[in-house]
Amino acid sequence: MTERKVADSLVETIHMVRPQHLNSAGRLFGGTLMQWIDEVAGLVAKRHTHMNITTASVDNLNFLRSAFQKDVVVLIGKMTYVGRTSMEVRVDTYVESMDGVRKPINRAYVTLVALGEDGNPTEVPKLITETPGEKMEWEGALKRREMRDLRRKEGF
Ligand SMILES: CC(C)(COP(=O)(O)OP(=O)(O)OC[C@H]1O[C@@H](n2cnc3c(N)ncnc32)[C@H](O)[C@@H]1OP(=O)(O)O)[C@@H](O)C(=O)NCCC(=O)NCCS
Repeated sequence: MTERKVADSLVETIHMVRPQHLNSAGRLFGGTLMQWIDEVAGLVAKRHTHMNITTASVDNLNFLRSAFQKDVVVLIGKMTYVGRTSMEVRVDTYVESMDGVRKPINRAYVTLVALGEDGNPTEVPKLITETPGEKMEWEGALKRREMRDLRRKEGF
């Protein structure tokens, strides 16, 4: 089966916060950001697998700062780990100022599963980790996966 590098599936998207994205407190609605995160993670997984995928779980969804109307929001998604049929994608979200400085507002880890033509989980291409940062993410993902497996077993 094909192997792919982390860089092969990297995705960056950009949004302008508009009135329809705001909650009643005048800030970016968390549900809208969650949709954008899910879309980015799905695109990364599709680029890596070239298959249909589905989101299995999202964790470490930490809202660090708010975004407001007219803010430019940048999302960067990269593959951190692949198992047999599942993958973990890290999505970092920033607010970008006019001079290009990016302030983090959210980090999420999304687990997705590749689906075969029968709709069942199917094997995914291996991931080639090249840089020290990519190798560290892989190690971190093994620990996060262990915690997720434990939570599932305990019914959380
Ligand atoms: C995700 C889903 C396909 C897993 O199906 P399943 O029958 O539990 O599959 P398996 O037990 O064989 O697990 C398949 C892989 O998914 C992983 N997995 C399953 N549930 C998971 C979860 N909740 N969180 C993280 N990983 C999960 C398993 O660890 C396994 O990984 P591996 O192959 O890399 O070892 C199934 O639960 C599903 O379809 N859920 C609904 C997904 C959906 O509709 N998402 C859109 C939200 S609206």
